[in-house]
This record gives sequence, structure tokens and C-alpha cells, in this order.
Amino acid sequence: HNVSEPWNVAPSLAESRIPIAMLDDLAAAVSAGALPSAVATFASSLRIERMAETVVDSSERIFELISAIRGYSFMDQAPVQDIDLPQSIENTLAMFRSRTAHVDIRLDFDPELPPVSAYGSELNQVWSALIENALDAMHDHGTLTISTRLTGQTAIVEVRNDGPEIDPAVLSRIFEPFFTTKPIGTALGLGLDTVQRFVNKHSGSVAVDSKARSTCFQVRIPINRLQAY
Ligand SMILES: Nc1ncnc2c1ncn2[C@@H]1O[C@H](COP(=O)(O)OP(=O)(O)OP(=O)(O)O)[C@@H](O)[C@H]1O
Ligand SMILES: [Mg+2]
Repeated sequence: HNVSEPWNVAPSLAESRIPIAMLDDLAAAVSAGALPSAVATFASSLRIERMAETVVDSSERIFELISAIRGYSFMDQAPVQDIDLPQSIENTLAMFRSRTAHVDIRLDFDPELPPVSAYGSELNQVWSALIENALDAMHDHGTLTISTRLTGQTAIVEVRNDGPEIDPAVLSRIFEPFFTTKPIGTALGLGLDTVQRFVNKHSGSVAVDSKARSTCFQVRIPINRLQAY
């Protein structure tokens, strides 16, 4: 249709998959002289529409991230409350989304498990230290299994990965503060120390069982608040 500088508008039109018939309609509707600028305006409005879609898309992602952070940090919430463990584990997992694209996450939650009276943000720090270690061990590729169950008056949470076995020679030291096998500058060796301190504060305990392709950290927390504090 004798549009001047067609290569400036062609990419937008092509990307938007505008049917040729629609362009013919446009050509019929405007005078020949006005056609080039009509097509250019049409093309730039398509570009803006695409940019707006990207903004909407990113805002949705930002909103999701903010709600995940709010859930994770217990922002604006009481420090001690009845914690739904599956919910708290899922809020924590949401914080690791950038690392779990190649991880098969299996959640096995016992529906009979009642809420646990606890410092919610501290429990989340426990899950995140264990999840982070599991992902580190698997280099973000493998299977991460998190389960909850109730035994008597104790809630049990297990975080398992199928990475390599923990060297038996260091197993007895992993809960020591500043003990790490990771390269200097990448880790402080404080994750499991934090786990231990927060779990002890809830009158609970942590245990580890590690063999080839199955390392499991088990956290036990009493569900009864009178027992817990
Ligand atoms: N799931 C796991 N699989 C294999 N090794 C583990 C696992 N969890 C912990 N470890 C070992 O225990 C060590 C101590 O863990 P910890 O979380 O306390 O410190 P870190 O991960 O090295 O550093 P930080 O948590 O401060 O970033 C790790 O360096 C690693 O050798
Ligand atoms: Mg760690």
C-alpha cells in the first residue's frame, strides 16, 4: 500500500499477527496520503499494548512476591500464634521459587495434624535453613520431600533430599555454629545452629539421618502449648 519506511512498522505488525484483511480495511478507511501515518500509529499502539501487558504481568508477579514475603515474615502479626505447619512450609517454599524449577517437590502433609502454638517467623527460618541446605546438597536438581505427621502429642516435620550422603566424618559437627563445608564467602555455617536454637526454644528436637541419595532432617515439636513454653 506504498507505506513509507515499512521496516519500521513491519515487526510490530508481524509480532501482533494482525490479519492482512484488517490492514486492507485500514487502507480502505483512510485516504492514501494518510495511510503511512495511520499504519505507524496503529503499529505503535500495538507496541504500547504489548508493553502494558508486560507491566500487568510483572505487577502480578510483584504482588505474588509481596504476599509471599508477608506470609513468610509474619509481617504485622503476633509473634506467637497457632501455626498451620503445611501453610508455614508452603509460605517458606514460595521464597525459594527461583531455585526450584528443576526440583521435584513432594509434599506429604498429615491432615490430622493440628496447628502448633509457636513463634511463626522462627519456624519459617527453621524450614528455610533446612530447605536451603537440601537445595545446596542437590545443586537445585533432584527431589525434595517435606512431610508432616502427628505422633502422640508431637508434630514431626521431615525435610528430605536425594543428594549425596553427609560425610560420616563431619556428621557430628554439622550443628556447630560456623561449621561449614561450603566455599568460604558462600556460607557462614549458621543455618543448622539457628535450626537447633529455634527448635529447642519450642521444646523440640532435631535429628539427622543421612545415606546415599537420602538425607533427612527431622524436627519434632510438641503441639501442646503448655508443654512448649
Ligand atoms: N541436606 C544436607 N545435605 C548434605 N549436607 C548438609 C545438609 N545440610 C547440612 N549439610 C552440611 O552441614 C553443614 C552445616 O550446615 P549449615 O546449614 O549449618 O551451614 P551452611 O549451610 O554451610 O551455611 P549457612 O547455612 O550459614 O549458609 C553444611 O556446610 C553441609 O556440609
Ligand atoms: Mg545452611
